[in-house]
Amino acid sequence: MAFSLGNTRMIITSKPEVARELLNSSEFADRPLKQSAQQLLFGRAIGFAPYGDYWRNLRRIASNYLFSPRQIAAHEPSRQAETSRMIEAMSTFAADNHGLVRVRDFLQRASLNNIMQTVFGRRFEDGSENAAQLSEMVREGFELLGAFNWADHLPALKAVDPQNILQRCAVLVPRVTSFVQNIIDEHRQLDNKAAGPDFVDVLLSLDGEDKLNDSDMIAVLWEMIFRGTDTVALLTEWILAELVLHPEIQSKLREEIASVVGGKSEVAESDLHKMVYLQAVVKETLRMHPPGPLLSWARLAIHDVTLAGHHVPAGTTAMVNMWSITHDSSIWTEPEKFSPERFLEQDVDVKGTDLRLAPFGAGRRVCPGRALGLATVLLWTARLVHKFEFQVDPAHPVDLTEVLKLSSEMAAPLVVKVR
Ligand code: HEM
Repeated sequence: MAFSLGNTRMIITSKPEVARELLNSSEFADRPLKQSAQQLLFGRAIGFAPYGDYWRNLRRIASNYLFSPRQIAAHEPSRQAETSRMIEAMSTFAADNHGLVRVRDFLQRASLNNIMQTVFGRRFEDGSENAAQLSEMVREGFELLGAFNWADHLPALKAVDPQNILQRCAVLVPRVTSFVQNIIDEHRQLDNKAAGPDFVDVLLSLDGEDKLNDSDMIAVLWEMIFRGTDTVALLTEWILAELVLHPEIQSKLREEIASVVGGKSEVAESDLHKMVYLQAVVKETLRMHPPGPLLSWARLAIHDVTLAGHHVPAGTTAMVNMWSITHDSSIWTEPEKFSPERFLEQDVDVKGTDLRLAPFGAGRRVCPGRALGLATVLLWTARLVHKFEFQVDPAHPVDLTEVLKLSSEMAAPLVVKVR
């Protein structure tokens, strides 16, 4: 489909074969830089940096020092400790509230702390002022970046700022800058060797061509915190919602987890690859509720290019409607049915090679945080289902209505009874 939104030429595809051609083409390896993204420093971070040497270097550094299997494994102890804290907090809360829990609050707090530990090498005490400040900044950034801004499409509105977006960005940016700069300065002063280097140490140790100035470092670090927090929490909330609506699937999953864990008290990450049903449940949730249904981070045609036989002029914004692909009855049998079993019968990977299910995108700009995000979601789901039975509370029926912000989230946060 091709159309214009103000001055912006746009194309959207709902066909896997066109999506493959688009996402894998170097001609679509740029992203349109929204006004809010530019204001919020993202022009110098991986997600919006123009396709070129600066972006390539950042991706290489992040792949080696943040997202490599070795780095992800090295952070298992902190992920496990954070999961234990989350479970403990949920238990205590449920005990004081007739078993009822609004899971999003717990998932988001744990998610923020998880990514903080991986990137900044620290967590904030729950309820501390720093934690509240950071989660409020992430929330505000999400709203600003997720908002539909007319000024992105009607340049005459850029200076007028009718939706107040520029003004809100101008308030947020100095807060983010000073927060992240403080963390960088502390890393400069402290000897972190005992705890092992975190991502701030890695960025500080770069030399020569790779060396980043402080403002670029702030952009890169802020982006990781920003992107690593909500995606993981929202996906887990969808998983729990589907498990509550399908108690038989929840029981089958619990049986698998118990059989793999055996006599041990806790799930280890090395157990997760043996849990094929768990993997299927996560994939089926990604299919039913892809967190970026329009692959939120659009692509931009760098040059004039031909796509699926059509001429696409340079500067066109291109999107993939992943939601439509994952709900297409010519691709999936009974697409509206939540059925993890479909992934036991056919092996579909989510790495971006099979465009029937590519919730992390594909090609050069595929999500680099996929393995880290999935490691967290799989561990949380396994440990939560191992520990609790999640049930519907009649006063809080599960509502699967989606609302598209930067990610697709449950419009009514999930409230469940835990036992
Ligand atoms: C459930 C979890 C997640 C989902 C569904 C997700 C989804 C996506 C999608 C759809 C894209 C655009 C891909 C494309 O254009 O082809 C993307 C890009 C990106 N994601 Fe994720 N993501 C997740 C977790 C994470 C995490 C945990 C991080 C980092 C801590 C992260 C960092 C990034 C970055 C930096 C990009 C931009 C890559 C580039 O432009 O080169 N993501 N993600």
